[in-house]
Amino acid sequence: MCGIIGYIGPKNSIPILINGLKRLEYRGYDSAGISFLNDGKVSVRRCAGKIKELESSIKSEKLKSPIGVGHTRWATHGKPSEENAHPHRAGGIVVVHNGIIENYFELRAGLKKKGHKFTSETDTEVICHLIHSYIKKSKSLEEATKKALKHVDGAYAIGVISESEPDKIIAVKKDSPLVLGIGEGEYFLASDIPAFLKYTRKVIILENDEMAVMTRSGVSISNILKNKPVKKKIMQITWSPTMAEKGGYKHFMMKEIFEQPRAIADTIRGRFSIEKAKVNIEEFSLTESRLKNLKKIFLVACGTSWHAALIGKYMLEDMAQIPCEVDIASEFRYRKPLIPRGSLMIVITQSGETADTLAAQREAKRLGAKVMTICNVVGSTSAREADSVCFTHSGPEIGVASTKAFTTQLTALYLFSIAVAKAKGKLKPKEIKSLFRDLLELPEKVEQALQCNNAILKIARKFHRVSDFLYLGRGINYPIALEGALKLKEISYIHAEGYPAGEMKHGPIALIDKDLPVLALAPDSNVLEKILSNMEEVKSRGGQLIAVATEGNSKIQSRASHVVLMPKTNNYLSPIIFSIPLHLLAYHISVLRKCNVDQPRNLAKSVTVE
Ligand code: G6P
Repeated sequence: MCGIIGYIGPKNSIPILINGLKRLEYRGYDSAGISFLNDGKVSVRRCAGKIKELESSIKSEKLKSPIGVGHTRWATHGKPSEENAHPHRAGGIVVVHNGIIENYFELRAGLKKKGHKFTSETDTEVICHLIHSYIKKSKSLEEATKKALKHVDGAYAIGVISESEPDKIIAVKKDSPLVLGIGEGEYFLASDIPAFLKYTRKVIILENDEMAVMTRSGVSISNILKNKPVKKKIMQITWSPTMAEKGGYKHFMMKEIFEQPRAIADTIRGRFSIEKAKVNIEEFSLTESRLKNLKKIFLVACGTSWHAALIGKYMLEDMAQIPCEVDIASEFRYRKPLIPRGSLMIVITQSGETADTLAAQREAKRLGAKVMTICNVVGSTSAREADSVCFTHSGPEIGVASTKAFTTQLTALYLFSIAVAKAKGKLKPKEIKSLFRDLLELPEKVEQALQCNNAILKIARKFHRVSDFLYLGRGINYPIALEGALKLKEISYIHAEGYPAGEMKHGPIALIDKDLPVLALAPDSNVLEKILSNMEEVKSRGGQLIAVATEGNSKIQSRASHVVLMPKTNNYLSPIIFSIPLHLLAYHISVLRKCNVDQPRNLAKSVTVE
C-alpha cells in the first residue's frame, strides 16, 4: 500500500503535493518523492524516510511548477531507499504507482533484452519503461499508457506525466484505489480523499480499467478495455479531514478490520498458480528440494503474531505432516532449544522490529537453523537478516491492536503449508487446486463475515460493563480464543482469558456463574460436537453464552443466548473468518467503555526493547 497524489492547475503544485503526501502518510512512510514539469522538462526529487525529510531536502530550492505527481511508499518490491522511491523515470516519462505488478519479473527481463536500463528493484519501473517504449509510436501519452498496460498483470493505480505532453496527467486504476478531486480550474488525483480535501470537496471515484486524462481545461474519463468515454458522477464529501484519513471510520482499528478483503487479496496476488498446482516459492528465495528436506519447523513470535504461529502449527502438521514447535520469542531466546539438522525457523512479525523476536531469530541462526520471516515491513531488520522472506503486503497497520496484519499472516502460513506439503508429496495436485480455490474465495468470505458488525455491536452493548470474559475454542480455532481474549484485554481493559474448551473442566469452570460471559467458537469441524458439549457445561452452570458458529448450524441456537453465524470455509481458513467477530467485539466494547482504541494505555505498536 502506498499513497499517490497529482496536481494540475494555476497554483504552485509543490506545496500541494507535499501537503497531500502528509495526509497519505498512513498508507506508507518509508520513502517519498515528487516529480514536476517546468519548461517542458521533468525533474524528480526523492529520498528515503518520511515526508518531512523530503520536505526539508527541497526547502532551499524554492521549487515551483503548475503540474506534478508525488508518492509516499510502503515498500513491496525492493528495500526502502532513494533509488527505489517513486516517482520512477524512463527518459521523459515519470510514473507514480500504488499496487503490485505480478509479472514484473518477466516484463523486466524482456525490456532489459531490448536495451532498457533499470535503476531500481521495484516492480513500478517496468511501467515507465513500457510507456517509454511506446511513446514515439503513439499519438498521445494516453495511447502509449494504454498500450503499456496491456502487458501488465496485477493491481495498479498510476499517475503519469511526460515531457512529450507537459500539460497533462494520466491516471489509471485497476484493483488499487484512485480518486480525482475537481476544483475551480484545478484538478487532483490521489489514492485517497484526505490528500486534497483542503482544496476541494468534489470527488470522482475511478473504477477498474478507467483512465482519466487531466489537463488545465478539464478531465475526461474513459474505459480502456471498451475504448469508450465514461460519464462519472461528482460526489460532494462531507467528512472532516481526520475522519477522511480513517476512510470515514472513527478509528484506524475499524478501518483496518474492514480493509481485510483487500489486504488478503494483496497477500495472495501472484503467489500461486492453480493450473500448475504450485505456490511461487521462488519469490521467497526457497526451492522445492529445500522444503522437501525439511525435518522440523520452529515457529516463533510475540503477541498476536504468536497466535498466528500457533495456527501455523495446525496447518503445517496437518497439510505437510512435518513436526512443528511453537515458541513465544522471549521464551525461545533463553530456553536452550534443541535444533536438529534440517530445521527451519519461521519468524512471524508484523513490524519486523520486535526485540524478542529478533533475538530469537538470531539465536536460531546461531544454532544452525535456516530462518524464514513472515513480515509486513519490507526493509525491516527481520526481513534483512532472514534467509527467506514472505511479505504479507497488508499495508501499514496503525492501530496498536493487530487485525489485518494477523489475518494476512495466516494467509501466508496457509500458502507456505501448501508449498511444504507439495514438496513432500503430502498433497495431491487435485487437493492443492481445491485449497487454492478456497483461498481465491476468501476475500469475498471475509467481506461476508464483516456483515456481522451490527449483531456484534448489540452483543457489545449488553456486555461492555462486565469485569471478566472467557473465550473457548478447540483445534485450529483454539488460538482464536486466545486472540479474542488478548484483544479485549488490550483495548478495553477487561480481564479476559482464552482456553482450549476441553481444558475448561480443569479450572475455569469454577468461575462460571450468571455474571461471566463465555464466548464459544463453534465452527463446523471434527470437534464441533465436543465444543457443543462444553457449551452445555457452561449453560447448566448459568453462564451467559455467546456462540460463533458456521451458517447452517441447526443445533447452535438452542445452546446459546447470542449466536453469530459466519460463512463456511475450509478448516484451515476458518481462523481468519472467526477472528473477525472477535476483533469487532473487542473494538465495540472498547468504544463503549470510552477507551483509546488505537493507542491503548501502556502498549506500543512495535516493541523494540526487551
Ligand atoms: C505488540 C503489538 C501487537 C503485536 C506484537 C508483536 O505487542 O501491540 O499487536 O502482535 O507487538 O509485534 P510484531 O510486529 O512482531 O508482529
